[in-house]
Amino acid sequence: MEAFAVLLSVGATVFTWLFFSLFIAFLAYCFYIKYIHMKYDHIPGPPRNSFFLGHSPTFVTIMKNDGIVHNRFLEWAETYGPVYRMNILHYIILVVTCPEATKEILMSPKYPKDRFLYKRLFNLFGQRFIGTGLVTAIDHETWYKQRRIMDPAFNTLYLRGLMGTFNERAEKLMDKLSELADSNKEANMLQLVNCVTLDVIAKVAFGMELDLLKNTSPFPKAIEICLKGMVHYVRDVMYEYNPRNRTFVNEVRDACRLLRTTGAQLIQKRKIAMQNGEDVPKDILTQIIKTAATEETMTEEDEEFMLDNFVTFFIAGQETTANQLAFCIMELGRHPDILEKAKKEVDDVIGMKQEISNDDLGKLIYLSQVLKETLRIYPTAPGTSRDIEEDMTIDGVRIPAGVNCMFSSYTTGRMEKFFKDPLTFDPDRFHPDAPKPYYCYYPFALGPRSCLGLNFAQMEAKVVMAKLLQRFDFNLVAGQTFDVKDTGTLRPKSGVICTIKHRKYKN
Ligand code: HEM
Repeated sequence: MEAFAVLLSVGATVFTWLFFSLFIAFLAYCFYIKYIHMKYDHIPGPPRNSFFLGHSPTFVTIMKNDGIVHNRFLEWAETYGPVYRMNILHYIILVVTCPEATKEILMSPKYPKDRFLYKRLFNLFGQRFIGTGLVTAIDHETWYKQRRIMDPAFNTLYLRGLMGTFNERAEKLMDKLSELADSNKEANMLQLVNCVTLDVIAKVAFGMELDLLKNTSPFPKAIEICLKGMVHYVRDVMYEYNPRNRTFVNEVRDACRLLRTTGAQLIQKRKIAMQNGEDVPKDILTQIIKTAATEETMTEEDEEFMLDNFVTFFIAGQETTANQLAFCIMELGRHPDILEKAKKEVDDVIGMKQEISNDDLGKLIYLSQVLKETLRIYPTAPGTSRDIEEDMTIDGVRIPAGVNCMFSSYTTGRMEKFFKDPLTFDPDRFHPDAPKPYYCYYPFALGPRSCLGLNFAQMEAKVVMAKLLQRFDFNLVAGQTFDVKDTGTLRPKSGVICTIKHRKYKN
């Protein structure tokens, strides 16, 4: 009995101390948040929703209502100016639309990628996702080592060699559209172009034959689930702890695992072929293997690192291009005059030819303008962010070190200040003689960490669009929305449903 009393008293003391320590820690954290507020509150910004959570309740509400956070960034940029502040717990995020600061920060290797965001993408809900691959590598050395090795798979000469695959895969889409035209069925263009871009990246990057317009595959779904999971994981830290989300969280983990195990099998097969001295393509897979250590010194971490890049290319190299194509088709469907002009150019440059050459792409100048204008209003990868580790001044505002700067091409692309009548789709803004936008248009980011796949993506997009315009008339089915869906990347909410007809050629 006495022993029990002693135990009870020890327990009560421990509990009291624990409670007291937690209370002190909480109080200290509150003081720290207060200190952060005092340090940064001179930077303009919207009122906080709460002392503790800062502005994050606003974003959670927008996400719950299926809205676009970038619209709020735009609204606040119009109200609070070229640099404004947002708070989340003790973190400070600045949204920068000032072109000079955009130039200074994005063009310099001095400003690393934002640790909070990119480190978080290392895994999704505990399952390794894109780890420290090209997109998420933060430290300059780690990134540069990979980028140097990957560059040859994206040089102009190598990309020219991919024209055959771009043509061949786009031709499969034309066959599918032909079937739909013959049977008078509607086409979900987003879904169809997604199949093409996934087919292309799987084939040219990893030597995989998916043929998604004919076969079913778990990959499209897995990629979609990963992207959706990514948004919840990054924007809502409490998401995974809500029991209602458990099923989806497990689906995300399974989807990551599927991508990584597929990568592991392909890498293993390619490594054996390389060891046997077989002639292997100089594709992305081969370059990924080269980014890791030599076989003798290969550690488990090196293997994981290769998988990080496998998943990175699967994710980065597909969906953004598909969404750009779908938005482009949507805007052409809404603007018959622009559509006619683009068709005429395709007729003049390509005529009835089936195989489009790299030289042809160079002559499709108006189509390039259309694709650029599409990414102005709909930058499918809407932004990037950097850590500021030294004090600086942006547009006359003193910025103490320790903040994170976000750059949203969606925001700047829709500001009247930079583009007159910003919501009007006008490809002539990108006419070769028009003045170039000054650090307010960067759908592929800028500087050393800009998109490695820019030329790849735009060659692929042009081949698909040129063939579509050459062969078919399409009309948007009435009643669908032209809204944007924010899934981390941006995509057309409606799916861009069209009726398709074979084009009739005038003699
Ligand atoms: C319309 C299509 C595309 C758009 C709009 C786009 C946009 C972007 C953006 C904005 C970034 C910077 C991301 C960040 O800072 O977080 C990026 C990075 C990257 N993209 Fe793309 N991308 C596209 C297509 C592609 C394709 C087709 C590939 C590969 C085949 C690719 C591979 C990459 C890679 C590897 C990076 C990381 C580059 C580095 O940090 O060195 N992208 N892309």
